[in-house]
Amino acid sequence: MSDLGRNDPCWCGSGKKYKNCHCDFDSRIDAFRRQGAVVPGRELIKNREQIEGMRESGKINIAVLDYVAEHIRAGITTAQIDLWVYEQTVLRGGIPAPLGYEGFPRSVCTSINEEVCHGIPSEDVVLEDGDIINVDVSTIYNGYFSDSSRMFCIGEVSPEKKRLVEITKKSLEVGLAQVKPWGFLGDMGQAIHDFARENGYTVVREIGGHGVGLEFHEEPWVSYVSKRGTEMLMVPGMCFTIEPMINMGGDGIYIDEDNGWTIYTEDGLPSAQWEIQVLVTEDGYEILAH
Ligand code: MF3
Ligand code: CO
Repeated sequence: MSDLGRNDPCWCGSGKKYKNCHCDFDSRIDAFRRQGAVVPGRELIKNREQIEGMRESGKINIAVLDYVAEHIRAGITTAQIDLWVYEQTVLRGGIPAPLGYEGFPRSVCTSINEEVCHGIPSEDVVLEDGDIINVDVSTIYNGYFSDSSRMFCIGEVSPEKKRLVEITKKSLEVGLAQVKPWGFLGDMGQAIHDFARENGYTVVREIGGHGVGLEFHEEPWVSYVSKRGTEMLMVPGMCFTIEPMINMGGDGIYIDEDNGWTIYTEDGLPSAQWEIQVLVTEDGYEILAH
């Protein structure tokens, strides 16, 4: 139960009395906790001011990805994408969150074909006709974090790869339909996994999404192979990413031993990923970045 008296100011910073603010909310969470559910701590519940900050950060993230979408083409290097992301983020008053994050050397992740995620932009990697590439952009603005990624098809892409990209995008919509307060993250995870399998694909198990907002990576860790009714309870004010990595072949992956970052499919077959950042609201969700 709460440490607050009913007439104390609410912990969320609204200035309202606890009994008129998050008191019922806390009781509801307590009931789930007593039933054994994994429930979010208060530090994961964003208040109005924080949500507004995250929205502004998300707008920059979206604008940067829009810029990439307009300019990406065969013949450019992934280092060029990195430069665009850096310039377009800074131009809008933001900071690229990946730059220097745990030693990551660039401003964005660029992952091509059999690269699952965390590809490092390079002067030596030139986009070729038929490539599929994920561009994963993350922004810090006024201390608030946003994170989203998109796939791009370069020139004439094979029908098989195009379908992988499209089904992966659709899997986000299927997952999103499960995002609502007092449901579980596993509702979303299972929906995505089932949808991918029905379409003949596999879902990467070891890497998932995450809470985001005040930090780049917050709790909870978000799986897309989880089961309905399991994992963390979703409550209004929680913010996390939906970013499944879907493989054309098997779900096995390995990490690049030389750079310590890039993840590849074990079988060398293509992988795709889209990412959106969602806020759980009173009646469903709001997309903060896509
Ligand atoms: N944007 C990635 C994610 O979705 C973050 C990768 S960490 C980095 O979690 F350092 F590689 F950027
Ligand atoms: Co992310």
